[in-house]
Amino acid sequence: MKRIVVAITGASGSVYGVRLLQVLLSAGCDLHLTISPAAFQVFQVELGINLSIEEFDSERLLRSFGTEESEKWQKGRLTYYSNHNYSAGIASGSFRTEGMVICPCSMGTLSSLATGISTNLTHRAADVHLKERRKLIVVPRETPLGSIQLQNMKTLSDSGAVVLPAMPGFYHQPQTISDLVDFVVCRICDQLGVETHLMKRWGES
Ligand SMILES: Cc1cc2nc3c(=O)[nH]c(=O)nc-3n(C[C@H](O)[C@H](O)[C@H](O)COP(=O)(O)O)c2cc1C
Repeated sequence: MKRIVVAITGASGSVYGVRLLQVLLSAGCDLHLTISPAAFQVFQVELGINLSIEEFDSERLLRSFGTEESEKWQKGRLTYYSNHNYSAGIASGSFRTEGMVICPCSMGTLSSLATGISTNLTHRAADVHLKERRKLIVVPRETPLGSIQLQNMKTLSDSGAVVLPAMPGFYHQPQTISDLVDFVVCRICDQLGVETHLMKRWGES
C-alpha cells in the first residue's frame, strides 16, 4: 500500500483535492490527510459543504464531487489529522512515506514552505519531505502571479519540490469540469507513480 500525505489548503480549486483523494483511495493508497482552516472556508464556497474541523467527516467531503461509486474508495485507507496536531506521524521524518501532495496549494502555504516558516502541520510535513529528500508536489492556484510568488515557486523547485500548477491542458478535448479536473489529478498521480486511466494521453491510442 503506497503511503502518501495529502494536504488541502485554502486556494480555489478544492475539487482538485477531493478528486485526488478519490483517485488515490481507488488505487488502494494509504492516505494521511490534513486540511487548513482556510480550506474549510473554500469548501463552503465551492463545494457547498460545511464540515467540522475537529469532527471531520471524510465521507461527506469525498461525496461532494462527481458520481463515482464510493465502494471503490474502500480499497484505500484515509487518516485525518487536524492542522495543528504536531503529534501526528506525518510531522516526523521517521514516519516513512512515498511522498506528499499539497493540492490545491495557496500562495500563503507556498511562501511558508519557501521560507521554512513552519506554523501548521501542512508546513511541518512538507518541511519533513524536503529535508528527507522525499517527493513533494505542490499544486499552486493563483492568477496572475506576482514576482514574490514566482520567486517562492523557484525556491521550492530548487529545493527539490515539483511545482505542478492547477493548469489543465485542452488537448484531451475535455467536455466536462470533471475532464479538466482529471487532467491535473492524472499528472499528480504520474508524479507519484500511481497508475490511473483518467484521460487519453497524447500519442497513445
Ligand atoms: C473562496 C476563497 C478562495 C481563495 N482562493 C485562493 C487562491 O486561489 N489562491 C490563494 O493563494 N489563496 C486563495 N484564498 C486565500 C487563502 O485561503 C488565504 O490566503 C489563506 O490564508 C491561506 O491559508 P492556508 O495556506 O493555510 O490554507 C482564497 C480564500 C477563499 C475564502
